Amino acid sequence: MPSFRVDLGPASHEVHVGPGLLGSLGQLARDAGLMPGRAALVTDSNVGPLYAPDLLATLRTAGFVPTLLEVPAGEPSKSLAALAGLYDRLTEAELDRTNPIFALGGGVIGDLAGFAAATYLRGLPLVQIPTTLVAQVDSALGGKTAVNHRAAKNLIGAFYQPRLIVADTTALTTLPAREFREGLAEVIKYGAIMDAPFLTWLESSMSSILQRDPASLEVIVERSLRHKAYVVATDERESGLRKILNFGHTLGHALEASSGYGSYLHGEAVAIGMVAAAGLSVRYAGLSADEATRLERLLGAGELPTQMPSGWQSSEFLQALRLDKKRAGDAVEFVLLDRLGHALTRKLSFEQIAATA
Ligand SMILES: NC(=O)c1ccc[n+]([C@@H]2O[C@H](COP(=O)([O-])OP(=O)(O)OC[C@H]3O[C@@H](n4cnc5c(N)ncnc54)[C@H](O)[C@@H]3O)[C@@H](O)[C@H]2O)c1
Ligand SMILES: [Zn+2]
Repeated sequence: MPSFRVDLGPASHEVHVGPGLLGSLGQLARDAGLMPGRAALVTDSNVGPLYAPDLLATLRTAGFVPTLLEVPAGEPSKSLAALAGLYDRLTEAELDRTNPIFALGGGVIGDLAGFAAATYLRGLPLVQIPTTLVAQVDSALGGKTAVNHRAAKNLIGAFYQPRLIVADTTALTTLPAREFREGLAEVIKYGAIMDAPFLTWLESSMSSILQRDPASLEVIVERSLRHKAYVVATDERESGLRKILNFGHTLGHALEASSGYGSYLHGEAVAIGMVAAAGLSVRYAGLSADEATRLERLLGAGELPTQMPSGWQSSEFLQALRLDKKRAGDAVEFVLLDRLGHALTRKLSFEQIAATA
């Protein structure tokens, strides 16, 4: 079972990745220094019925007395109302400052329970137990927690590091296919921005990954998390290196925000965004056209969309960019590739973007 440490000074913590880890969670939590006694297990209405009973059992065996808190599955649960509901239940369960919150689910649960843990009693120990590919390769690690506001996604949040992350790759076998493929976009992203050999491995392994072969799942989650851990340890607050994780996301967010093109999952929009960013990279960062084609083929092999939707107007993209928070005057900071496996940031003017979009 691969495990490694995320190096964040006093907030450093272990990450465990592998099949069947859920059953040892109680012991892993004790090994991480969490105190037995009261605890909360936060999950959603899809994940709870599948995995909460086993998790409750292993926690009890290790001396925890967990209360199960379930919210409806889906993004609407990342709300102030759901958060208020959690606070109510935490007071009823009489948790004190030493009692941990276990967040079992996808990014919605990780972000919601993470923010509850960050704020309740000014901070309870948090354990992330991600169950989607997105959560296992991205959201569980890095300490970003948040709920949405009607004005914007993730508007209310905090940086708050977990005490432990346990990614049980067996949980990925029950994930719906579309949500699984969405996570693959983020996996491919790590290869594109920082690991060319991994990209080559992904090219030769895509069919076993799509079949969710256990060994392949362990490789993609572990390798992705190690890369994210390195980036986050280098730049926890996203003032420099961490920005490269936004590769494909500028256009991706613009696509997600525009209506009228069907609804893309985040990872699908990012896949299209990465192809577009690769196009900009050929023009402005020295990526070869062959390399851009390789990235596009790999995303296609992962059964992700790679083309802008028909009818898409570049003017709409520019309009969305004008609202982008990474904008600086009439330029936008883009993450580009100068070669596969290496990213850099460049300020591009709207004219430069329009010429390619
Ligand atoms: N904090 C961060 O750094 C960060 C990074 C990326 C995304 N996010 C956030 O994560 C959220 C998206 O996360 P997500 O894609 O995991 O969505 P999600 O949590 O809504 O999960 C997707 C769906 O899969 C179901 N599910 C989860 N695990 C399952 C399993 N093992 N088997 C069967 N069904 C399962 C869920 O119930 C849900 O219906 C967004 O709110 C996004 O803002 C946060
Ligand atoms: Zn993303």
